[in-house]
Amino acid sequence: MIILAIETSCDDTSVAIISVLNENDRNKLKTKNYKLKTDFKVLANLVSSQINIHKKWGGVVPNLASRAHAKNLPIVFKRALKEANITIENIDAIAVTIGPGLAPSLLIGVHFARALAYKYNKPIIPINHINGHILSAFFQKAENVKCQMSNVKCSFPVMNLIVSGGHTSLYLMKNYGKYELIGKTRDDAAGEAFDKAAKMLGLGYPGGPVIAALAARQVESLKFKVKSELKFPRPMINSKDFDFSFSGLKTALFYFLKNFSKTNKITEKVREKIAHEFQQSVIDVLISKTISAAKRYGAKTIAISGGVSANNELRKQMEIKAEENNLKILLPPKNMTTDNALMIAIAGYHNRDKKTIWDKIDADPNLKL
Ligand code: KG4
Ligand code: ZN
Repeated sequence: MIILAIETSCDDTSVAIISVLNENDRNKLKTKNYKLKTDFKVLANLVSSQINIHKKWGGVVPNLASRAHAKNLPIVFKRALKEANITIENIDAIAVTIGPGLAPSLLIGVHFARALAYKYNKPIIPINHINGHILSAFFQKAENVKCQMSNVKCSFPVMNLIVSGGHTSLYLMKNYGKYELIGKTRDDAAGEAFDKAAKMLGLGYPGGPVIAALAARQVESLKFKVKSELKFPRPMINSKDFDFSFSGLKTALFYFLKNFSKTNKITEKVREKIAHEFQQSVIDVLISKTISAAKRYGAKTIAISGGVSANNELRKQMEIKAEENNLKILLPPKNMTTDNALMIAIAGYHNRDKKTIWDKIDADPNLKL
């Protein structure tokens, strides 16, 4: 079965093609380390980034994103077919992200998929973007086999933290396809907080990677005047529920910068300290809520996904805490943390029984999982 997937929910234009291996092909690949449930060969996974368009605004501008998707999607689609060395006739189904996301962006991907499905008479599989992110943590590259991704064996229930520019949510997963929302952000998503903090500090976009790089450079032994004053809040860390809030953290940074800059220069070293403390406050909240939600709901495994799950400190500290609490941890490969169509293709395979025809789907910016 060959699945073509399209993802345009935010500012990445992405097309992926996977081939689900049949029993024969799978047996050829099996080694003693490699006996996994479902095996895929990734024929293509292309992402065209719009960072250069949005960076001067410090965030994604929906209409500019939509225009860039309209221009780039046909090109990325053609390249993906070429890379996979197939034609559209070889495709068995088209998986497309229908939501949640930015309406002008989603519409481009959905209508492109509808047009293809209509013209070539192919079934279409509507995909929830969050489902794609979640499944990205359940796949790993098989050892020694280039471009091969496989289902990971894991113990359910799994507590999933989805943490990106648009989402910060905890979902309890009793099995594939069985999700229960446990908590979510009441205002900004964690990635959005990183992006806004980077903008206030005069850094680039997207903010997460820049802040992470600055934080990593910060040398603990250096003493700055800012040290004692520089303690940001850990919003809602002690609340009894599993919701998040990051807008207060952004305000704390705003007032810190305002007061500090009255008498001091915001030097590179000061920025490093701020980046480190800001990142740590986000990480402390994410880890504390995820671990306590896992314990409360009897999860055996925790999984993190979404753009912010690329953060090395978050990955490292979450791994340590998971081990201390006897929990297994699943992390997506780094190139599957930010938006990509490969995760949508995989979700397409999981949802293949939801196949429908072109005129039965539409974009839904507020789609729930
Ligand atoms: O999943 P994604 O590509 O898009 C959404 O669905 O929102 O996530 C993008 C977000 C951005 O806010 C970006 O700043 C953040 O992920 N991000 C990071 C890192 N890499 C990307 N945040 C923290 N540390 C990183 N290394
Ligand atoms: Zn996303």
